[in-house]
Amino acid sequence: MSVLIKGGRIVTAADDYVGDVFVDGERISLLGEALDVSASTVIDATGKLVLPGLVDPHTHLDMPFGGTTTIDDVTSGHTAAAFGGTTCHVDFCIQGRGQSFADALAAWHGKRDGKAIIDMGFHIAVTDLSAPGRLDELATLPDQGITSYKLFMAYKGALMVDDQTLFRTMEVAARTGALVMVHAENGDAIDVLVSDALAAGNTAPVYHALTRPPETEGEATNRAIQLARVAGCPLYVVHVSCKESVEPIMLAREKGWDVWGETCTQYFFVDTTFLERPDFEGAKYVYTPPPRDKANQDVLWNAVRTDVLSAISTDHCAFLWDGQKTMGRDDFSKIPNGGPGLENRLHMIHHFGVGEGRITLNRMVELLCTNPAKLFGLYPRKGTIAPGSDADLVIFDPSRRKTITAADQHSKTDYNLYEGTDVTGDVDTVLVRGTVVVEDGELRVEPGFGEFVERARFGEELHAATATA
Ligand code: URP
Ligand code: ZN
Ligand code: ZN
Repeated sequence: MSVLIKGGRIVTAADDYVGDVFVDGERISLLGEALDVSASTVIDATGKLVLPGLVDPHTHLDMPFGGTTTIDDVTSGHTAAAFGGTTCHVDFCIQGRGQSFADALAAWHGKRDGKAIIDMGFHIAVTDLSAPGRLDELATLPDQGITSYKLFMAYKGALMVDDQTLFRTMEVAARTGALVMVHAENGDAIDVLVSDALAAGNTAPVYHALTRPPETEGEATNRAIQLARVAGCPLYVVHVSCKESVEPIMLAREKGWDVWGETCTQYFFVDTTFLERPDFEGAKYVYTPPPRDKANQDVLWNAVRTDVLSAISTDHCAFLWDGQKTMGRDDFSKIPNGGPGLENRLHMIHHFGVGEGRITLNRMVELLCTNPAKLFGLYPRKGTIAPGSDADLVIFDPSRRKTITAADQHSKTDYNLYEGTDVTGDVDTVLVRGTVVVEDGELRVEPGFGEFVERARFGEELHAATATA
């Protein structure tokens, strides 16, 4: 099978030119102007952008959380992702307390077996190192292509770890070449603030934000940075939402420390006032860290523009409003934390980031594709358009208009964070490893097409296909 994509505007993190892409089998084979080759499929991309498939380093599909399970399983999550131009993601495999990493990974592989549409890898979320031999087991995971360890510094009584667990994991990462990821919030202080609020009768969704002030994120971000420095491991701070957390990351990066940060699409667009919407609508915006005050949105745009923050993920953690979010009608702390986003990252960042002049097209590709691939051991197989790379490609029509709405989305949730937003620019055709997966508004592959990707260690490159079905 071969595919020739003709006359598109090919945009990578570094380049921007009009040309042809020739795909032979699963890989990009040739790039050039007016290529003189024949192909079994020819796609005219005149007037369109040809982008690398987006890589999302932060998602939660089919994850038990907050007394329920996220509504998107691997198939519905991947369908939403594919329609939004995401061709590869890294999901969190959560270790249950007392559970071995092997058992946790077997469970998460079970969730994807026969269900995947796009390619995916796993981070391991460490919750419990107390059993004998667990640290040694953690050290073996990079050999299975699990090259990032995630720790939650919040969600006390659920996923939260203490500093000793965090630090021991960091020490293992320093030896094994894994990247440590942190959800940075001070879970102990938040736990007190939540109890105080409930004791005072403050049960509405907005108290989710009021009990997680930005300082609790800033404190934990700084603590993680300093501990990573002592352990000597690289650190990636997930879902940075505010100035208090951006600043310590900026300082660390100015010093040349191995610290990176991501933010998520929603933090540019949703602010604390959304949580005050009447009739419990505010619960739709209960995710963690919470939506911040509007001034932080400019802080975040500036941070992604200047490489203080290096990636934009979705933190897709979707729940139904009706039936799941409503579990917390009388108590905000019972609203499952998380929101949807896999389908609209490119729409929103292209329109409001590139279209409104906040970032360049090249920087958009870097933030959504190339940097996530580099940081998580997928590059150059994923995240760019180059000979030898997987033919994960998005043909994007930059002038097609779209109104974002839950009514036509592919996620199983019943709402959209950006409901009614008009954007210019929409996904036309998506290829994963040379196969068209989305075309003419239709999904063209069956569940089971997507592969598991074993990722390279931090700072190493991933070349030959090491995927397994
Ligand atoms: O509210 C969120 N973000 N839910 C998903 C879990 C996490 O903290 O990333
Ligand atoms: Zn988190
Ligand atoms: Zn998350």
